[in-house]
Amino acid sequence: MKILVTGAAGFIGTNFVYYELENHPEDQIVALDLLTYAGNLKNLDGCKDNPNFKFVKMDIRDREAIYKLFEEEQFDIVANFAAESHVDRSIEDPEVFLRTNIIGTEVLMDASLKYGVKRYHQVSTDEVYGDLPLEATDLFFTESTPLHTSSPYSASKASGDLLVMAYHRTFGLNMSISRCSNNYGPYQFPEKLIPLMINNARHDKNLPVYGEGLNVRDWLHVYDHCSGIDLVMRNGENGEVYNIGGHNERHNIDVVKTILKELDKPESLITYVTDRKGHDLRYAIDPTKIETKLGWKPKYNFESGIKETINWYLNNQQWMDEVTSGDYLKYYEEMYGNR
Ligand code: NAD
Ligand code: DAU
Repeated sequence: MKILVTGAAGFIGTNFVYYELENHPEDQIVALDLLTYAGNLKNLDGCKDNPNFKFVKMDIRDREAIYKLFEEEQFDIVANFAAESHVDRSIEDPEVFLRTNIIGTEVLMDASLKYGVKRYHQVSTDEVYGDLPLEATDLFFTESTPLHTSSPYSASKASGDLLVMAYHRTFGLNMSISRCSNNYGPYQFPEKLIPLMINNARHDKNLPVYGEGLNVRDWLHVYDHCSGIDLVMRNGENGEVYNIGGHNERHNIDVVKTILKELDKPESLITYVTDRKGHDLRYAIDPTKIETKLGWKPKYNFESGIKETINWYLNNQQWMDEVTSGDYLKYYEEMYGNR
Protein backbone atom coordinates (compact mmCIF):
# COMPACT_ATOMS: atom_id res chain seq x y z
CA MET A 1 0.00 0.00 0.00
CA LYS A 2 1.07 3.57 -0.56
CA ILE A 3 0.35 5.96 2.29
CA LEU A 4 0.55 9.76 2.30
CA VAL A 5 1.47 11.16 5.71
CA THR A 6 1.01 14.94 5.86
CA GLY A 7 2.64 16.99 8.63
CA ALA A 8 5.28 14.25 8.66
CA ALA A 9 8.11 16.44 9.98
CA GLY A 10 6.14 17.52 13.05
CA PHE A 11 6.02 15.78 16.42
CA ILE A 12 3.38 13.09 15.89
CA GLY A 13 3.87 12.80 12.12
CA THR A 14 7.56 11.96 12.64
CA ASN A 15 6.77 9.30 15.21
CA PHE A 16 4.08 7.91 12.91
CA VAL A 17 6.43 7.62 9.92
CA TYR A 18 8.88 5.58 12.04
CA TYR A 19 6.00 3.48 13.39
CA GLU A 20 4.72 2.65 9.91
CA LEU A 21 8.13 1.82 8.42
CA GLU A 22 8.88 -0.47 11.34
CA ASN A 23 5.50 -2.18 11.60
CA HIS A 24 4.53 -2.33 7.92
CA PRO A 25 7.76 -2.77 5.96
CA GLU A 26 5.69 -3.83 2.93
CA ASP A 27 4.13 -0.34 2.61
CA GLN A 28 5.47 2.80 0.97
CA ILE A 29 5.38 6.10 2.83
CA VAL A 30 5.31 9.50 1.18
CA ALA A 31 6.02 12.05 3.90
CA LEU A 32 4.74 15.55 3.10
CA ASP A 33 5.38 18.71 5.08
CA LEU A 34 5.50 22.44 4.47
CA LEU A 35 8.31 22.74 7.05
CA THR A 36 6.77 25.59 9.00
CA TYR A 37 8.46 26.60 12.27
CA ALA A 38 7.04 23.32 13.71
CA GLY A 39 8.39 21.00 11.03
CA ASN A 40 11.95 19.72 11.36
CA LEU A 41 13.23 17.62 8.47
CA LYS A 42 16.13 16.38 10.58
CA ASN A 43 13.59 14.38 12.58
CA LEU A 44 13.28 12.07 9.57
CA ASP A 45 17.03 11.54 9.09
CA GLY A 46 16.71 8.01 10.45
CA CYS A 47 14.63 6.87 7.48
CA LYS A 48 15.97 8.97 4.61
CA ASP A 49 17.79 5.96 3.10
CA ASN A 50 14.85 3.59 3.41
CA PRO A 51 13.68 2.74 -0.15
CA ASN A 52 10.06 2.78 1.07
CA PHE A 53 10.36 6.39 2.24
CA LYS A 54 10.17 9.61 0.28
CA PHE A 55 9.90 13.24 1.47
CA VAL A 56 7.99 16.00 -0.34
CA LYS A 57 8.01 19.64 0.73
CA MET A 58 4.50 20.90 -0.02
CA ASP A 59 1.66 23.03 1.34
CA ILE A 60 -1.61 21.10 1.81
CA ARG A 61 -3.44 24.30 0.77
CA ASP A 62 -1.73 24.30 -2.64
CA ARG A 63 -4.45 22.61 -4.72
CA GLU A 64 -2.47 22.43 -7.95
CA ALA A 65 0.60 20.86 -6.37
CA ILE A 66 -1.49 18.47 -4.29
CA TYR A 67 -3.50 17.28 -7.32
CA LYS A 68 -0.29 16.71 -9.28
CA LEU A 69 1.18 14.68 -6.42
CA PHE A 70 -1.98 12.57 -6.03
CA GLU A 71 -2.11 11.91 -9.76
CA GLU A 72 1.53 10.77 -9.80
CA GLU A 73 1.47 8.70 -6.63
CA GLN A 74 -2.01 7.10 -6.59
CA PHE A 75 -2.21 6.83 -2.80
CA ASP A 76 -4.25 4.12 -1.08
CA ILE A 77 -4.46 5.93 2.26
CA VAL A 78 -4.09 9.59 3.25
CA ALA A 79 -3.36 10.30 6.93
CA ASN A 80 -3.65 14.01 7.59
CA PHE A 81 -1.51 15.17 10.54
CA ALA A 82 -0.65 18.57 9.00
CA ALA A 83 -1.97 21.38 11.15
CA GLU A 84 -1.24 24.47 13.12
CA SER A 85 -1.31 22.82 16.53
CA HIS A 86 -0.49 25.27 19.33
CA VAL A 87 -3.40 26.77 21.28
CA ASP A 88 -1.44 29.83 22.49
CA ARG A 89 -0.44 30.76 18.93
CA SER A 90 -4.07 30.45 17.82
CA ILE A 91 -5.04 33.01 20.46
CA GLU A 92 -2.40 35.43 19.12
CA ASP A 93 -3.14 34.91 15.41
CA PRO A 94 -6.09 32.68 14.43
CA GLU A 95 -6.06 33.07 10.63
CA VAL A 96 -3.38 30.59 9.64
CA PHE A 97 -5.20 28.00 11.79
CA LEU A 98 -8.33 28.42 9.69
CA ARG A 99 -6.39 28.27 6.43
CA THR A 100 -4.38 25.16 7.24
CA ASN A 101 -6.74 23.19 9.47
CA ILE A 102 -9.89 23.81 7.41
CA ILE A 103 -8.96 24.75 3.82
CA GLY A 104 -5.97 22.37 3.82
CA THR A 105 -8.28 19.54 4.92
CA GLU A 106 -10.71 20.39 2.12
CA VAL A 107 -7.99 20.32 -0.54
CA LEU A 108 -6.74 16.91 0.65
CA MET A 109 -10.27 15.49 0.60
CA ASP A 110 -10.99 16.87 -2.88
CA ALA A 111 -7.78 15.23 -4.10
CA SER A 112 -8.71 11.98 -2.34
CA LEU A 113 -12.08 11.88 -4.12
CA LYS A 114 -10.62 12.88 -7.49
CA TYR A 115 -7.79 10.33 -7.45
CA GLY A 116 -9.59 7.36 -5.86
CA VAL A 117 -7.95 7.26 -2.42
CA LYS A 118 -9.38 4.25 -0.55
CA ARG A 119 -9.30 5.78 2.95
CA TYR A 120 -8.92 9.38 4.12
CA HIS A 121 -7.95 9.57 7.81
CA GLN A 122 -8.21 12.81 9.77
CA VAL A 123 -6.01 13.15 12.86
CA SER A 124 -8.10 15.18 15.26
CA THR A 125 -8.07 16.05 18.93
CA ASP A 126 -10.09 15.74 22.12
CA GLU A 127 -10.12 19.56 22.25
CA VAL A 128 -13.08 19.51 19.83
CA TYR A 129 -15.22 18.39 22.80
CA GLY A 130 -14.35 21.50 24.85
CA ASP A 131 -13.61 20.79 28.51
CA LEU A 132 -15.00 18.92 31.51
CA PRO A 133 -15.45 20.30 35.05
CA LEU A 134 -12.41 19.73 37.27
CA GLU A 135 -14.42 18.13 40.05
CA ALA A 136 -16.58 15.77 37.92
CA THR A 137 -13.95 13.04 37.69
CA ASP A 138 -16.51 10.45 36.57
CA LEU A 139 -17.19 12.38 33.32
CA PHE A 140 -15.28 11.48 30.14
CA PHE A 141 -15.37 12.45 26.46
CA THR A 142 -17.03 9.78 24.33
CA GLU A 143 -17.47 9.86 20.55
CA SER A 144 -21.01 11.18 21.03
CA THR A 145 -20.03 14.10 23.29
CA PRO A 146 -21.17 17.26 21.44
CA LEU A 147 -18.51 19.41 19.79
CA HIS A 148 -18.08 22.54 21.92
CA THR A 149 -14.87 24.42 21.31
CA SER A 150 -12.94 27.02 23.31
CA SER A 151 -9.96 28.29 21.29
CA PRO A 152 -9.47 29.25 17.64
CA TYR A 153 -7.28 26.13 17.40
CA SER A 154 -9.98 23.75 18.65
CA ALA A 155 -12.65 25.54 16.58
CA SER A 156 -10.53 25.05 13.47
CA LYS A 157 -10.01 21.36 14.25
CA ALA A 158 -13.74 20.85 14.91
CA SER A 159 -14.50 22.62 11.61
CA GLY A 160 -12.12 20.23 9.87
CA ASP A 161 -13.91 17.25 11.46
CA LEU A 162 -17.35 18.55 10.43
CA LEU A 163 -16.13 19.01 6.88
CA VAL A 164 -14.75 15.45 6.80
CA MET A 165 -18.11 14.09 7.93
CA ALA A 166 -19.92 16.26 5.38
CA TYR A 167 -17.67 14.88 2.60
CA HIS A 168 -18.57 11.37 3.74
CA ARG A 169 -22.30 11.98 3.62
CA THR A 170 -22.46 14.22 0.54
CA PHE A 171 -19.72 12.82 -1.69
CA GLY A 172 -19.28 9.33 -0.26
CA LEU A 173 -15.68 9.92 0.89
CA ASN A 174 -14.35 6.83 2.66
CA MET A 175 -13.06 8.31 5.92
CA SER A 176 -12.24 7.88 9.58
CA ILE A 177 -11.41 10.37 12.33
CA SER A 178 -9.35 9.80 15.48
CA ARG A 179 -9.52 12.18 18.46
CA CYS A 180 -6.65 11.87 20.88
CA SER A 181 -5.72 13.47 24.19
CA ASN A 182 -2.40 15.23 24.95
CA ASN A 183 0.65 13.43 23.59
CA TYR A 184 4.16 13.33 25.04
CA GLY A 185 7.33 11.68 23.75
CA PRO A 186 10.34 12.33 21.47
CA TYR A 187 10.50 15.16 18.88
CA GLN A 188 7.86 17.44 20.43
CA PHE A 189 8.44 21.12 19.70
CA PRO A 190 9.45 22.90 22.94
CA GLU A 191 6.53 25.32 22.89
CA LYS A 192 4.33 22.57 24.41
CA LEU A 193 4.22 22.00 28.17
CA ILE A 194 6.49 18.98 28.68
CA PRO A 195 9.47 19.76 26.38
CA LEU A 196 9.27 23.46 27.32
CA MET A 197 9.52 22.64 31.01
CA ILE A 198 12.35 20.14 30.46
CA ASN A 199 14.30 22.69 28.44
CA ASN A 200 13.79 25.52 30.92
CA ALA A 201 14.71 23.33 33.88
CA ARG A 202 17.84 22.18 32.06
CA HIS A 203 18.92 25.83 31.79
CA ASP A 204 17.76 26.73 35.34
CA LYS A 205 15.18 29.10 33.84
CA ASN A 206 11.77 29.78 35.39
CA LEU A 207 9.01 27.28 34.63
CA PRO A 208 5.91 29.32 33.62
CA VAL A 209 2.80 27.56 34.96
CA TYR A 210 -0.50 29.08 33.78
CA GLY A 211 -2.97 30.10 36.51
CA GLU A 212 -2.66 27.84 39.52
CA GLY A 213 -1.51 24.81 37.54
CA LEU A 214 -4.67 22.90 38.44
CA ASN A 215 -5.93 22.27 34.89
CA VAL A 216 -5.98 18.59 34.00
CA ARG A 217 -4.65 16.98 30.83
CA ASP A 218 -4.95 13.28 29.90
CA TRP A 219 -1.46 12.23 28.76
CA LEU A 220 -0.75 9.54 26.17
CA HIS A 221 2.65 8.47 24.88
CA VAL A 222 2.96 9.34 21.19
CA TYR A 223 3.78 5.69 20.37
CA ASP A 224 0.34 4.66 21.64
CA HIS A 225 -1.33 7.42 19.63
CA CYS A 226 0.47 6.15 16.51
CA SER A 227 -0.59 2.54 17.12
CA GLY A 228 -4.19 3.76 17.53
CA ILE A 229 -4.15 5.79 14.30
CA ASP A 230 -2.61 2.86 12.46
CA LEU A 231 -5.46 0.59 13.57
CA VAL A 232 -8.19 3.12 12.80
CA MET A 233 -6.95 4.06 9.32
CA ARG A 234 -6.51 0.39 8.32
CA ASN A 235 -9.34 -1.37 10.16
CA GLY A 236 -11.67 1.36 11.41
CA GLU A 237 -15.17 1.48 9.95
CA ASN A 238 -15.90 3.87 7.12
CA GLY A 239 -17.54 7.05 8.49
CA GLU A 240 -16.60 6.45 12.14
CA VAL A 241 -14.90 8.49 14.86
CA TYR A 242 -12.60 6.83 17.44
CA ASN A 243 -11.32 8.45 20.63
CA ILE A 244 -7.77 7.56 21.72
CA GLY A 245 -6.60 7.97 25.33
CA GLY A 246 -5.06 5.96 28.14
CA HIS A 247 -6.63 7.32 31.37
CA ASN A 248 -3.54 9.22 32.50
CA GLU A 249 -5.08 12.39 33.91
CA ARG A 250 -2.69 14.73 35.71
CA HIS A 251 -2.83 18.29 37.04
CA ASN A 252 -0.31 20.43 35.15
CA ILE A 253 1.50 21.31 38.37
CA ASP A 254 2.07 17.63 39.13
CA VAL A 255 3.56 17.05 35.67
CA VAL A 256 5.90 20.01 36.19
CA LYS A 257 6.95 18.75 39.64
CA THR A 258 7.63 15.28 38.22
CA ILE A 259 9.95 16.83 35.61
CA LEU A 260 11.81 18.84 38.25
CA LYS A 261 12.22 15.78 40.44
CA GLU A 262 13.58 13.69 37.57
CA LEU A 263 16.04 16.42 36.65
CA ASP A 264 16.97 16.99 40.29
CA LYS A 265 16.03 20.69 40.08
CA PRO A 266 14.33 22.78 42.81
CA GLU A 267 10.60 23.58 42.83
CA SER A 268 11.58 27.22 43.38
CA LEU A 269 11.98 27.39 39.56
CA ILE A 270 8.16 27.22 39.25
CA THR A 271 6.63 30.62 38.41
CA TYR A 272 2.87 31.07 38.28
CA VAL A 273 1.97 33.32 35.33
CA THR A 274 -1.24 34.85 33.92
CA ASP A 275 -3.66 32.17 32.80
CA ARG A 276 -4.29 31.28 29.13
CA LYS A 277 -7.43 33.00 27.77
CA GLY A 278 -10.39 30.58 27.66
CA HIS A 279 -8.19 27.90 29.29
CA ASP A 280 -9.87 24.46 29.12
CA LEU A 281 -10.15 22.98 32.61
CA ARG A 282 -9.99 19.24 32.15
CA TYR A 283 -9.68 16.71 29.34
CA ALA A 284 -10.40 13.01 29.87
CA ILE A 285 -10.97 10.43 27.15
CA ASP A 286 -13.14 7.34 27.25
CA PRO A 287 -11.31 4.93 24.87
CA THR A 288 -13.83 2.07 25.17
CA LYS A 289 -14.76 2.12 21.48
CA ILE A 290 -11.24 1.72 20.05
CA GLU A 291 -10.42 -0.86 22.73
CA THR A 292 -13.47 -3.03 22.14
CA LYS A 293 -13.98 -2.59 18.37
CA LEU A 294 -10.35 -2.57 17.25
CA GLY A 295 -8.47 -4.23 20.11
CA TRP A 296 -6.26 -1.19 20.79
CA LYS A 297 -4.27 -1.18 24.03
CA PRO A 298 -1.69 1.38 25.15
CA LYS A 299 1.83 0.09 25.81
CA TYR A 300 3.05 2.89 28.09
CA ASN A 301 2.05 4.03 31.55
CA PHE A 302 2.72 7.67 32.38
CA GLU A 303 5.27 7.04 35.16
CA SER A 304 7.72 5.08 33.00
CA GLY A 305 6.80 6.95 29.79
CA ILE A 306 7.62 10.36 31.21
CA LYS A 307 10.98 9.13 32.55
CA GLU A 308 11.88 7.66 29.16
CA THR A 309 10.80 10.92 27.49
CA ILE A 310 12.89 13.10 29.81
CA ASN A 311 15.87 10.87 29.08
CA TRP A 312 15.27 11.23 25.35
CA TYR A 313 15.48 15.02 25.62
CA LEU A 314 18.59 14.77 27.82
CA ASN A 315 20.23 12.45 25.30
CA ASN A 316 19.25 14.70 22.38
CA GLN A 317 20.33 18.08 23.67
CA GLN A 318 21.70 19.04 20.27
CA TRP A 319 18.22 18.49 18.79
CA MET A 320 16.74 20.75 21.46
CA ASP A 321 19.44 23.42 20.98
CA GLU A 322 18.96 23.45 17.20
CA VAL A 323 15.19 23.75 17.58
CA THR A 324 15.37 26.55 20.15
CA SER A 325 18.04 28.46 18.18
CA GLY A 326 16.17 28.06 14.88
CA ASP A 327 19.14 26.29 13.21
CA TYR A 328 16.93 23.43 12.06
CA LEU A 329 15.21 25.82 9.63
CA LYS A 330 18.38 25.90 7.49
CA TYR A 331 18.45 22.12 7.11
CA TYR A 332 16.11 21.87 4.16
CA GLU A 333 18.21 24.34 2.16
CA GLU A 334 21.36 22.43 3.06
CA MET A 335 19.80 19.10 2.06
CA TYR A 336 17.76 20.10 -0.95
CA GLY A 337 18.79 23.66 -1.88
CA ASN A 338 21.10 22.68 -4.75
CA ARG A 339 19.29 19.60 -5.99
P1 NAD B 1 3.15 19.83 15.11
O1 NAD B 1 2.85 21.28 15.18
O2 NAD B 1 4.33 19.29 15.85
O3 NAD B 1 3.30 19.37 13.59
C1 NAD B 1 2.49 19.86 12.57
C2 NAD B 1 3.23 19.68 11.25
O4 NAD B 1 2.39 20.13 10.19
C3 NAD B 1 4.54 20.47 11.16
O5 NAD B 1 5.58 19.64 10.71
C4 NAD B 1 4.23 21.57 10.14
O6 NAD B 1 5.37 21.95 9.37
C5 NAD B 1 3.18 20.88 9.27
N1 NAD B 1 2.32 21.84 8.56
C6 NAD B 1 1.72 22.94 9.08
N2 NAD B 1 1.02 23.59 8.11
C7 NAD B 1 1.18 22.85 6.98
C8 NAD B 1 0.69 22.99 5.65
N3 NAD B 1 -0.08 24.04 5.30
N4 NAD B 1 1.03 22.08 4.73
C9 NAD B 1 1.83 21.02 5.07
N5 NAD B 1 2.33 20.84 6.31
C10 NAD B 1 2.01 21.75 7.26
O7 NAD B 1 1.82 19.10 15.59
P2 NAD B 1 1.63 17.67 16.28
O8 NAD B 1 1.60 17.86 17.75
O9 NAD B 1 2.54 16.70 15.66
O10 NAD B 1 0.12 17.38 15.83
C11 NAD B 1 -0.16 16.64 14.64
C12 NAD B 1 -1.67 16.47 14.50
O11 NAD B 1 -2.18 15.80 15.65
C13 NAD B 1 -2.43 17.81 14.45
O12 NAD B 1 -3.46 17.67 13.52
C14 NAD B 1 -2.97 17.99 15.85
O13 NAD B 1 -4.17 18.74 15.82
C15 NAD B 1 -3.21 16.55 16.26
N6 NAD B 1 -3.15 16.27 17.70
C16 NAD B 1 -2.08 16.64 18.45
C17 NAD B 1 -2.00 16.27 19.79
C18 NAD B 1 -0.82 16.66 20.66
O14 NAD B 1 -0.86 16.44 21.86
N7 NAD B 1 0.26 17.19 20.12
C19 NAD B 1 -3.04 15.53 20.37
C20 NAD B 1 -4.14 15.18 19.57
C21 NAD B 1 -4.16 15.53 18.23
O1 DAU C 1 -5.53 17.55 23.94
C1 DAU C 1 -4.87 17.50 22.73
C2 DAU C 1 -4.16 18.81 22.47
O2 DAU C 1 -3.07 18.87 23.36
C3 DAU C 1 -3.69 18.95 21.02
O3 DAU C 1 -4.81 19.01 20.19
C4 DAU C 1 -2.85 20.21 20.84
O4 DAU C 1 -2.32 20.25 19.53
C5 DAU C 1 -1.71 20.17 21.83
O5 DAU C 1 -0.96 21.36 21.73
C6 DAU C 1 -2.23 20.01 23.26
O6 DAU C 1 -2.95 21.20 23.68
P1 DAU C 1 -2.77 21.82 25.16
O7 DAU C 1 -3.15 23.23 25.12
O8 DAU C 1 -3.41 20.95 26.17
O9 DAU C 1 -1.16 21.62 25.33
P2 DAU C 1 0.00 22.58 25.87
O10 DAU C 1 1.24 21.76 25.95
O11 DAU C 1 0.04 23.88 25.18
O12 DAU C 1 -0.50 22.86 27.36
C7 DAU C 1 -0.76 21.79 28.27
C8 DAU C 1 -1.27 22.42 29.56
O13 DAU C 1 -0.19 23.12 30.19
C9 DAU C 1 -2.38 23.44 29.37
O14 DAU C 1 -3.30 23.34 30.44
C10 DAU C 1 -1.65 24.78 29.41
C11 DAU C 1 -0.50 24.51 30.36
N1 DAU C 1 0.75 25.26 30.10
C12 DAU C 1 1.26 25.22 28.84
C13 DAU C 1 2.42 25.88 28.53
C14 DAU C 1 3.00 25.86 27.14
C15 DAU C 1 1.38 25.94 31.11
O15 DAU C 1 0.93 25.95 32.27
N2 DAU C 1 2.55 26.61 30.81
C16 DAU C 1 3.08 26.62 29.57
O16 DAU C 1 4.14 27.27 29.36
